[in-house]
Amino acid sequence: MPDHVEIAAEATKRLTEKQQRFRKDPYRPTYHITAPYGWMNDPNGMIHYRGEYHLFYQLHPDDPAGGTKYWGHLKSRDLAHWEHLPVALAPSEPYDAGGCWSGTAVAHQGKLYLFYTGVAGDPPVQTVNLAVSSDGIRFEKHPANPVVPAPPLEGGLDCRDPKVWLHNGIWYMLLGTAHKGRARLALYRSLDLIHWIYLGIALESDGTKGAMWECPDFFRLGEKDVILVSPIGIGGEIQGSPLAVTGQMDYTAGKFLPERWQLLDHGPSFYAPQTWWDGQHRRILMGWMEKWGAAMPSQQYGWAGAMTIPRVMDLLPDGTIVLQPAPELTRLRYQHCRWVGLNVHPEGSGFLPELQGDAMEIIATFDLTNCTADRFGMKLRCSPDSRQETVVAFDRTTGLLEVDRSRSGAGDGGTYGGQLKASRLNRLQLHIFLDRSSLEVFGDHGRVSITQRIYPSPDSLGADLFAEGGTVHVVHLDTWRLGSAFPEE
Ligand code: FRU
Repeated sequence: MPDHVEIAAEATKRLTEKQQRFRKDPYRPTYHITAPYGWMNDPNGMIHYRGEYHLFYQLHPDDPAGGTKYWGHLKSRDLAHWEHLPVALAPSEPYDAGGCWSGTAVAHQGKLYLFYTGVAGDPPVQTVNLAVSSDGIRFEKHPANPVVPAPPLEGGLDCRDPKVWLHNGIWYMLLGTAHKGRARLALYRSLDLIHWIYLGIALESDGTKGAMWECPDFFRLGEKDVILVSPIGIGGEIQGSPLAVTGQMDYTAGKFLPERWQLLDHGPSFYAPQTWWDGQHRRILMGWMEKWGAAMPSQQYGWAGAMTIPRVMDLLPDGTIVLQPAPELTRLRYQHCRWVGLNVHPEGSGFLPELQGDAMEIIATFDLTNCTADRFGMKLRCSPDSRQETVVAFDRTTGLLEVDRSRSGAGDGGTYGGQLKASRLNRLQLHIFLDRSSLEVFGDHGRVSITQRIYPSPDSLGADLFAEGGTVHVVHLDTWRLGSAFPEE
């Protein structure tokens, strides 16, 4: 039977061959990460290792509709330009024959350790497994696998997505699980990364935060400990919007003491976010820019799923978590245009006649002190006949920032948004990233982010400003085209 390294190498070969065939299509992003071919979901094992950002991801290399999961792998020096690396993990053993599901990476004594969920059997059993590499590229599965062979008594059969970290010389692990319809996080500790002792349930949903938590992340941000979870069974959705909870981890009691819960993003295409520590001073987040069950028109071109842009996470003095585009993305900019002092009124249109594009960054600053409009914003990816458009709108009376993708083209529709404190604002900044089949909107310096996939026709490239019920003054508006994250390909 071929060993793991051979199976992973075979998968890499298939991926590379198929990538050639499906190179050009109208939906493939230019600066967002996608799988060369096939299916992508969660980001995994994000680690800054030997001066480079490593990103692994859930991959099915043979079918854009999904299937048994592998770990794809990329790396970057600057978070803007990426390089695909060989497939890191492939199902090869009795304990992961059903897939290598999500997990985490840590560096220890110069080696890279991947902790992942092995799925096997019917009904499927989920266990925690370990793969180790000394070059950061080729991974050997550990003979002690599974290192966590069964869910804890206080958990359920859903028990997955290990997050591992070091605190005061001791390794800790959180696993997402559930009990009697309530999401839980199980906590373990280890001295050697191989033998794990169950400590108890560190955090449980109060009944309103989900029936199961997937993909936990854990880190320190300023004076707080932060846990991220992606909830199943919340708000009438199968997968809810990922949550961040700030508080303190009591390592002696093995309990997380929650203080404040927040939504990380308000859009429909954001799930399973994870973070990097950049090795110096920043916490950087990336999420799967998609959700289970969404329409994925790119499947006709041989791929599905993408990552969001990298976002820097900060904690404001009032306890709010903000996510802002990583400044490294400015390296992709070219062809800058600037408009200064535009008065946008309800009777007008064509305020930005020269602006066309589907891979762009836009920063627009609106003056709210003399604003008489009730609602204003931007229309993007507009078709020449005006039938297609995606609308980013701010309602000054309610403070709601929304994206309406009901006329965006193929794929799912709907309007999604988040609340800003309008009365606090003299100016509103909208920071927007468009990339072929996606739109990410950051309002008021990352207080609200809204992420969605959109699938407009290739010739829907127009952009405009609009105002309803009065006038809004645009102080300035800057746009850049953005180049490829994969300049070598
Ligand atoms: C989240 C998730 C994880 C699981 C993985 C499987 O999107 O369901 O819980 O490990 O995807 O691909």
